[in-house]
Amino acid sequence: MEVSFQTTINSKAAILIVPLFSDSPFVKNAPEILENFLKKRQDHKDFLGNEGETLLGLPDDDALPGKVILWGLGEKKKFTAQKLRGLAAQIVRSVRSLKKEEITLWCPDSLIGFAQTLGEGAAFGNYNLAKFKTGKEKEELESQTLKKIIVVVSKKFPKFETEMKKGISIAEAVGEVRDMVNAGPTFKNVDYLAGKAEDIAQKNGYKITVINKEELQKMGMGGIIGVNRGSEFGAKMVVMEYTPKGTSKKPPVVIIGKGIIFDSGGYNLKPSQTLYEMQLDMAGAASVMGLFMLLKKLNIQHHVVGIFPLTDNLVSKSSQKPSDVVTTYSGKTVEIVNTDAEGRMILCDAISYALKHFDPRCVIDIATLTGACMVALGDRYAGLFGNDAGLMEKLRKAGETTDELAWPMPIHPDHRAKMKSKIADLRNWDEVPYAGASKGAAFLEEFVENAKWAHIDIAGPAFVKDPKKYETPMGTGFGVRLFVEFLEKLR
Ligand code: BES
Ligand code: ZN
Ligand code: ZN
Repeated sequence: MEVSFQTTINSKAAILIVPLFSDSPFVKNAPEILENFLKKRQDHKDFLGNEGETLLGLPDDDALPGKVILWGLGEKKKFTAQKLRGLAAQIVRSVRSLKKEEITLWCPDSLIGFAQTLGEGAAFGNYNLAKFKTGKEKEELESQTLKKIIVVVSKKFPKFETEMKKGISIAEAVGEVRDMVNAGPTFKNVDYLAGKAEDIAQKNGYKITVINKEELQKMGMGGIIGVNRGSEFGAKMVVMEYTPKGTSKKPPVVIIGKGIIFDSGGYNLKPSQTLYEMQLDMAGAASVMGLFMLLKKLNIQHHVVGIFPLTDNLVSKSSQKPSDVVTTYSGKTVEIVNTDAEGRMILCDAISYALKHFDPRCVIDIATLTGACMVALGDRYAGLFGNDAGLMEKLRKAGETTDELAWPMPIHPDHRAKMKSKIADLRNWDEVPYAGASKGAAFLEEFVENAKWAHIDIAGPAFVKDPKKYETPMGTGFGVRLFVEFLEKLR
C-alpha cells in the first residue's frame, strides 16, 4: 500500500475520511471546507464520534469529495495508540467494500504522534486472503484492496511521514508472515520456506547458510534428525545474519524460531481436533523471517542472527518412537518419551548451534511450544520464560508497547528435575500434565549454558479464532512487532 502526504483536500477525491473525537467540537477540529456539513451533523446529533462509529455522507457540494466518512475515535482523553491500531484497521476494512483504489484521510494534528500505529492499523485493515482464493472471490477481494492512502496534514511533518511509512512496512511484513502461517503444509514445505529465506537474504544482502539434512546428521544434530525421520522432506536449518555497519565484531542477538511444517504429533498422534491446523507450528520461524524482512529497511543498528530449524513431525515406518534415545548437538542424550514434544527437540539443537558458532549477546527463542501455555494464558498473552530478568523485562516491555503481550512465567527447580531421564541425560516429556509450559522451558534451559536466554511460547497468540480488531482469524504474525520494538530500544 502506497502512502502520500499533502496539505490540502482535493475536492475530486472519491472518499475522504475524517477522524473525530466524541469530546471535542467537530466543527472546530475538522477541515474548514466541512464546516457546513459538520454543523448539520452536530445539530442533528446523527454522529457522536463514539469509538468505531462511522457515518457515510454524500455531500452535494462541489467543493467536497463525493463521499465523506466521519470516523469516531471516542474520547480524546482515553485515546491510545493501541486503540488507533484497531480502529484504523476497522475503518480501512469497511471502506474497502466501496472498491476504490485510494482513499484520502484527513489527519488532525492530534494524531501526528500516532503515525506508526496509524500506518500499521491501516495496512492491517488492507490484509486479506485473496491469494488463497480463485475465480470470482479472488477478483472480489482484489478489487477491494486499497492501493493508496493520501494523508492530508496541516503542514509537512517529515517524522510523521517516515513513521507512518514504517508502520505500513511492518504491517505488510506481518501480513507475509500470516500468509506463510496460514498456508497449507504441503505447499509451504521445508524447501519452500528455506527458499523464501534465501529470497529475503538476497534481497537485503544478508549472509545466509542453509544446512541440509546430511550436514545436520554429520554435525550430530540428533534432536532435529530424530523429528525428521518420518518426513519425505529432509530437515533444514536456516541461519541468517544481519550485520549493519560497525557491528560485525559485536556479539549478536540470536533469535531462534520453531519451524515445524506440520505437527501430527508423530507416534503420539494428535486427535482430530488438535491435528487440524497444525500447519501453524512454524509460526516462530515465520516471525523470524518477518523480522528479517524488516531489519535493513528499518535500519536496525544491531548485529542479529536468525536461526530456524525446519521439518515436519510425521508418522511413518521410519519415524522415531516413544522410548527412543537421541544424542543432541550439545552431546546430551534425550529420551523421547513423547514424539509430540518435538519442538524442544529441534530448538535445543538450534540453541547449541547458536552457542557454538556465535558468541551471542543473548539467545531468544520463539515457538508454538505447548498447548499448556495456551491453557494458562489464552490467546492474548504469550508465555515469557528465561534466565535473565533484564532481558525478560525488555521483551515484556516491547510486548506491552506493541500489544504483543508476553507474560512472565516461572521455571521451578522441580520442573527441571522432572525433565531428567532414567535411561538418558534428559527426557522430553513428563507424564504429569501440569505446568507443561514451564517444563518445556526447563528442558530448553538445559541447553543454554551460561548465555542470557529468553523463551517466548506463542502457542496461544500465534493463531487465533477470536482475532483482535487489527487481526484476521488464523495466523497473526505474532512476534515480528515485538522484536522490532525490542531491537529499536536495545542499547
Ligand atoms: N505444537 C504443539 C503445541 C501447540 C498446541 C501449539 C496447540 C499450538 C496449539 C507442541 O509440539 C505439542 O504438541 N505440545 C504438546 C505437549 C507435549 C509436551 C506433548 C501439547 O501441547 O499437547
Ligand atoms: Zn507436538
Ligand atoms: Zn509442535
